[in-house]
Amino acid sequence: MQYYPVCKFTEVGFGEGKAVEVEGRQIALFNAGGKLYAIDNRCPHMSAPLHDGSLEGKTIVCRLHFWEFDITTGQSTNQPGQCVKTYPVKIERGVVKVAIEADTQL
Ligand code: FES
Repeated sequence: MQYYPVCKFTEVGFGEGKAVEVEGRQIALFNAGGKLYAIDNRCPHMSAPLHDGSLEGKTIVCRLHFWEFDITTGQSTNQPGQCVKTYPVKIERGVVKVAIEADTQL
């Protein structure tokens, strides 16, 4: 697993999401309570980006048809069995880094 720099911590507003790309993979970053989380930026329903959904606590609500996902686990909270992939995040000297496993690269 390798960490890739994606943006500065200050670029992800409190309670907001941001779209980033890591090795060709579209990822949504979220700042929930000052802690950052990363998930695939693609809703499993009809592929809408999730970064501009509504973040309610640690739940992201897709703006198209309101499927909800826990950004800490990737599990849907209103569509049983549905999920999105989550990625480890760390911050070093103000830079956000997201980890991608070798076998998940495109
Ligand atoms: S595309 Fe996300 S709920 Fe339909």
